[in-house]
Amino acid sequence: MTNNSKIICYCRNVTEDEIICAVKNGATNLKDIRNACSANTGNLCEELNPKGCSCADDILKIIASHRIKCSCGCRNSN
Ligand code: FES
Repeated sequence: MTNNSKIICYCRNVTEDEIICAVKNGATNLKDIRNACSANTGNLCEELNPKGCSCADDILKIIASHRIKCSCGCRNSN
């Protein structure tokens, strides 16, 4: 993890790199991310997140762009 990785979950202070790492280790959904690094488990999003909302959408975008694709060409991750 780099020190300048941007924060994605402001409630739990979880960075983009930590979420990408969880995805590369097999996380495929929000529940997996919550279990892996506690992101998206806070309840002060409106106060702490500059977007004024939960980090869920940002996490889902990271999962979609970094998950390991199945080698057979289907839409499933591995
Ligand atoms: S910003 Fe992630 S749970 Fe609030």
